[in-house]
Amino acid sequence: MFKIGNVKINGKVVLAPMAGVTSLAYRNFMKPFGVALTVTEMVSDCGIIYDNSRTIEYIKTTESERPVAIQLFGNSAENICKAMDIVLKVNPNIDMFDINLGCPAPKVVKTGAGSALLKDPKKLEEMFKIICAHSPIPVTAKIRLGWNEENINFRENIKSLENAGIAAIGLHARTTRAGYAGKPRWDLVNNLRDEMSVPLIISGDMYDISYASRALEITHADAIMVARGGVGNPKLIERLNSYFEGKGELPYPTKWEQKQYLLKFADMLIEEKGEYTAMMILRGIAPKFFSGFPDAKKIRSKLASALTTKESLLRILDEIKEE
Ligand SMILES: Cc1cc2nc3c(=O)[nH]c(=O)nc-3n(C[C@H](O)[C@H](O)[C@H](O)COP(=O)(O)O)c2cc1C
Repeated sequence: MFKIGNVKINGKVVLAPMAGVTSLAYRNFMKPFGVALTVTEMVSDCGIIYDNSRTIEYIKTTESERPVAIQLFGNSAENICKAMDIVLKVNPNIDMFDINLGCPAPKVVKTGAGSALLKDPKKLEEMFKIICAHSPIPVTAKIRLGWNEENINFRENIKSLENAGIAAIGLHARTTRAGYAGKPRWDLVNNLRDEMSVPLIISGDMYDISYASRALEITHADAIMVARGGVGNPKLIERLNSYFEGKGELPYPTKWEQKQYLLKFADMLIEEKGEYTAMMILRGIAPKFFSGFPDAKKIRSKLASALTTKESLLRILDEIKEE
């Protein structure tokens, strides 16, 4: 257990924010596997201010997923503070705000938001002094190592954020330029937590137990974030928790188990998004439930291309029988 501000986090596995993935349905599907903290996908401060109805959908949360953080992105303290006020009016049942300082997408960076804010630690400190003082609930930030290999400045940015009153920091151990490719640079963050005054949550390639526990050992972080590794592999979270709690390694899920998980997730997604949109989203996610199974190539390609209705999902999965 550790605390972010006054919020208790009961575990070491946080569900990473992922635009287009970590919907309300996804977060609530993953939660029972042992997620200690959920984070919404990034939401634009201006989208909230201008009452964009789709944006307001993004800030819905449930009681059962708590503690939950709403992740915002923006390029000014003023707009982020305005957006925080609106969020708390529309949905007061949240536990913290997380500010996105890691997004490498050109359309975000171009506006001076996301990881563009990491370029100037001094300016970052001024901006976060205003944001942290304004928010009645803890504010956290998710950063990267720096802009590129030549500008690794996470230590300066962490100091700035701490000085400003940040309650915890999530670190994706890649640079902005690296995007999502290449190996996370754990070699640069040896014992990092020992230098910090607030909790550290680390992110990058959390696909298995040995990798995640090694990253914790190296950094002394309080928790890890499961991102791509958990998509189609919810049991990873249960397996990580079991291992971290000293209860040993649980077996990998069978194909049958994966089918049950997928059907459960599909129902939750249909309830949130409607059948058609849910199926379009599932075309990207459903095949991942069967990656790693050597005899599931045909099922994976059907899931990626032929999903149109719940009926079609059931038909495709029909050949997977209880083992
Ligand atoms: C499709 C996708 C969307 C993402 N969206 C966000 C986001 O909205 N906010 C954020 O802070 N990070 C976002 N991330 C970054 C992840 O939270 C995570 O830090 C990154 O994927 C590294 O972890 P991994 O290598 O285990 O996937 C996204 C990553 C992916 C792959």
